[in-house]
Amino acid sequence: MSSAQCAPFEVTDVHAVEILDSRSRPTLSVSVTFADGSTARAGVPSGASTGSGEAVELRDHDSARYGGLGVLTAVTNINGEILAALGGRSFDTLADVDAALIALDGTANKSRLGANAIVGVSIATARALATGTGVELWQHLTPAGVAARLPIPHFNVVNGGAHAPNDLDFQEFMLAPIGAPSLPEAIRAGAETYAALKRLLHDKGYATGLGDEGGFAPDITRPEDVLALIVEAITSAGYTPGRDGIAIALDPAASEFYRDGAYHAAGQTLSSTEMITWYEHLAVDFPIWSIEDGLAENDENGWIELTQRLGARIQLVGDDNFVTNPAIITDAIAKNIATAALIKVNQIGTVTETLDALRICRDNGYAAMVSHRSGETEDTFIADLAVASGCGQLKTGAPARGERIAKYNRLLEIADRHPALPFGLR
Ligand code: PGA
Ligand code: ZN
Repeated sequence: MSSAQCAPFEVTDVHAVEILDSRSRPTLSVSVTFADGSTARAGVPSGASTGSGEAVELRDHDSARYGGLGVLTAVTNINGEILAALGGRSFDTLADVDAALIALDGTANKSRLGANAIVGVSIATARALATGTGVELWQHLTPAGVAARLPIPHFNVVNGGAHAPNDLDFQEFMLAPIGAPSLPEAIRAGAETYAALKRLLHDKGYATGLGDEGGFAPDITRPEDVLALIVEAITSAGYTPGRDGIAIALDPAASEFYRDGAYHAAGQTLSSTEMITWYEHLAVDFPIWSIEDGLAENDENGWIELTQRLGARIQLVGDDNFVTNPAIITDAIAKNIATAALIKVNQIGTVTETLDALRICRDNGYAAMVSHRSGETEDTFIADLAVASGCGQLKTGAPARGERIAKYNRLLEIADRHPALPFGLR
């Protein structure tokens, strides 16, 4: 079943509350109710290393509350204007609701009503549509003709960049248990290696405090040193480093250390070409299978060179440069930029546009990885979205902290209830 096959439904209530996210910043909890009594809520995520082209998150900028980060304006937009526009109105599909929200907002980047407001309504509507259908959310979201699939979890076990107060410039070092035989075994591999890494860090005298996504945030500057520790942890947990066991995925989030036309990382100042050569060496010395945002969002020529030199061997994922935007991803595919897109619902602002971005990747043989944000709630929508899209990849932080674990636990529940679902990379 897909959302395109829904019977007409009437929206009777839309309601938002200001709640806290995992970084203790305000965000939105949004509930949507239909005339038949179906109701569901959504918690809205929030990024820290955001792409400049992302749909706009509306903040109050009232320095008397939460340092200006309050979202009461977005709450008012939902409980006022959006409720007035949707309440009492009948729709045929989620796409119709999303189109109504986009039209009501009237801007190209959802800045008037706020992408945080719009995405909350969109996710809650998608979830409410699945209730009462007799199928689970992921089944409801699976487009006709698409084979749903349990994804390879990508556990971000070392945090740097904008997600931790250490001097590590690369933002994310992820465990990808590509060789695991099943989703539960992949989760176990991630959790056991995370525990082994904690022991190693402790034994070597590093702090084992956590960054925003639940990974450790040791005071290590060189990515090579982090990668060596991760390989040691994989081995000491009893797994094989590499694509037959646990491979490594990086998200340097290079836009964050790109200034004045150069990359400033680990004490070096490098050109795009030199960055690519560095990644080439890292991929020879360590079992790296995927690199996201290896270069900055506006370094298009660098991205073309990166794809030419590394694209055949390593998955290259665009995040800050693509911002889950179907038009930008279409353009990137035509220009041979990257080999995969990161997919974040709040980057584009509606579930319908997100499903569109995933469809474009699928139709073009381009990979996709569904992703959380560094600021999260206990909402597990992205676990169902990853399964429904059949993309085979989900990154949602370390196997630690409730807001990250909630997504992995949701995958475990789906795996248990649907043992015939395939697992692994597409
Ligand atoms: P963000 O980080 O949620 O802070 O943007 C995640 C990422 O860069 O992939
Ligand atoms: Zn990223």
